[in-house]
Amino acid sequence: MPVFAGRIPETARERLSKLKGNNTKAIAVVNYGNAQVADALVELVDILQENNFDVIAAASTISHHSIFDGVAIGRPDDEDIAKINEFAQNAIEKIENGGSLESSIPGNRPYIDYKQLPFIVSCDVNKCVFCLECVSVCPEKAIPDDDPADVDLDLCSRCTSCINICPENARAFTGEAFKAKKPAFESANAERKEPEFYF
Ligand SMILES: Cc1cc2nc3c(=O)[nH]c(=O)nc-3n(C[C@H](O)[C@H](O)[C@H](O)COP(=O)(O)O)c2cc1C
Ligand code: SF4
Ligand code: SF4
Repeated sequence: MPVFAGRIPETARERLSKLKGNNTKAIAVVNYGNAQVADALVELVDILQENNFDVIAAASTISHHSIFDGVAIGRPDDEDIAKINEFAQNAIEKIENGGSLESSIPGNRPYIDYKQLPFIVSCDVNKCVFCLECVSVCPEKAIPDDDPADVDLDLCSRCTSCINICPENARAFTGEAFKAKKPAFESANAERKEPEFYF
């Protein structure tokens, strides 16, 4: 589960809440961009447990920051992958031997308020070829199929999916708020953080 503003994404939370665990074993993993996990992992564990999953282990892992491309460049790297492989091996052993999650997970309840990012997702109409891949991938149905440039920013979660999928590189974060935030955010989160594992 990606971390969005220290929480798990609202759409993902809604979908996950519909699953019935029936005591199925689960491993809760949140992935973040070297800034903050905040309450995302505790929230994910809570949702799984509330839906009757048997959470046996949990982790927070790090990959490149999907919005600020100067943060966590090259992550996950070999060191991360080795740690994740070891975690997976230990989780397999725990599945075989039995037992639920015992560690307490860092985070607060109530969770921090979700704050929508003020950035604008724009579309360069001179590059757009109207393939509508962005429309298909958008989890919030925020892009109209008759005008991919007209993003509904009230619906948009700034998830970056449309930016990543666009074959013409027509989509990007733009606007003064994004430009102003980028350098300070990247220098504040330059120091390497490490994945954490819980059993
Ligand atoms: C809307 C949004 C909010 C984010 N909030 C955080 C955050 O609070 N802390 C953090 O470290 N990374 C944050 N990130 C970065 C992502 O968690 C991270 O880059 C992502 O898990 C990478 O996976 P992806 O390539 O599948 O998007 C955010 C990314 C997006 C799109
Ligand atoms: S960033 Fe793009 S894909 Fe994601 S919610 Fe916004 S418009 Fe949809
Ligand atoms: S994915 Fe890119 S090229 Fe295709 S419709 Fe969307 S903005 Fe236009």
